[in-house]
Amino acid sequence: MKLTLIAGARPNFIKIAPIIHAIDEQQEMSINLRYRLVHTGQHYDQKMSDTFFKELNIPEPDTNLGCGGGTQAEQTAAIMVAFEKELIANPADLVMVVGDVNSTMACSIVAKKLLTKVAHVEAGIRSYDLTMPEEINRMVTDCLADYFFTTTEWAGKNLQKLGIPKERIFFVGNVMIDTLLQNRPRFRKPAIWDKLGLKKENYLVLTLHRPANVDEDTKFKAFLQAIIEASNGLPVIFPVHPRTAKILESLPLSHSPSLHLIDPLGYLEFNFLVQNAKAVITDSGGITEETTVMGIPCLTLRDNTERPETITIGTNELIGTDPAAIKPALKKLFAGEWKKGEIPELWDGRAADRIVEKLTGLYGN
Ligand code: UD1
Ligand code: UDP
Repeated sequence: MKLTLIAGARPNFIKIAPIIHAIDEQQEMSINLRYRLVHTGQHYDQKMSDTFFKELNIPEPDTNLGCGGGTQAEQTAAIMVAFEKELIANPADLVMVVGDVNSTMACSIVAKKLLTKVAHVEAGIRSYDLTMPEEINRMVTDCLADYFFTTTEWAGKNLQKLGIPKERIFFVGNVMIDTLLQNRPRFRKPAIWDKLGLKKENYLVLTLHRPANVDEDTKFKAFLQAIIEASNGLPVIFPVHPRTAKILESLPLSHSPSLHLIDPLGYLEFNFLVQNAKAVITDSGGITEETTVMGIPCLTLRDNTERPETITIGTNELIGTDPAAIKPALKKLFAGEWKKGEIPELWDGRAADRIVEKLTGLYGN
């Protein structure tokens, strides 16, 4: 069986790593599953791409389509044009896409139009917020896909509501958590740890990259101001996404001794920081899952989430997008009143094994 695996952006690399390792292991047991790895080039900086391939032992992609940058339509169209050529030249029995980035949707459309089956990993999650490009990507991908690998029972129910038969939905768990659990013993101190003399639970980690939070100067500044004021003087470590960095270049910030802007970190260093933090403040989706599994309080600066289990079961809370909401939330944290949380069902480090098992069942050996 020939599988084409798609990855384009930082969270994709973290999700495909365990799938590739599970396929490699199964191949050693002589299953006939060959894969071709296609990098769309959506993320291209060394710190947003290469670092993850090296750290997570992902093989060199068979091809890189080089489709980074541009508007939503430009990027999606560029990936579609390039991936159509790629898939015609290298036909597959199945194209596997992960997550909800533009690469996920663009490659699903191309594959279906070339009459190739599509499997979606992390299918069925929904924020119902169509102002987010990711929600559109999820909806389109799930309308087209043939096989659906889900992180929760809830995601499966969402898919069934669309009329997708349960026989094509496989509740396997969370591949992002596979990577987390497999690499936890390898987490390592980033340079900022010794530079600032950081100590366990004595600092906050911040990440922000959603257009709704960073594209508007006044709002972005108000967020940073509110976080600095409410952080009890604790250092706030902010690994800045390149999208956010571009905005910060033209955003004069008054110097604050507690706010530390650094380059994006590699996976092992970033999660070392998260694992030892007092709390994480973020608008990322993946980070809410990782903090849930590590039991670290997570304050999400969004009005909704496609990952409700991180709130109902885990350590995440939706703080919203009003900077005034940060102070009371951090007050609750410092008062020791943050919930403890538990780990969602099947987030046990074996999701990728289950995916490969299903593929073997579907396509024979
Ligand atoms: C994308 C995903 C988002 C995901 C995020 C993960 C979509 C619609 N958005 O957002 O769901 O949470 O990745 O990080 O797919 N840039 C660089 N270097 C890079 C990558 C990006 O400079 O390596 C800059 C470029 O100016 C680029 C901009 O960031 O135009 C936005 O990148 P893009 O991939 O379009 O969206 P993200 O904001 O990264
Ligand atoms: N991450 C990282 N270094 C950083 C910031 C994030 O390795 O400096 C990892 C993080 O552990 C998680 C993933 O990147 O696995 C989340 O990616 P991001 O927030 O960019 O995307 P989202 O999950 O919001 O789509």
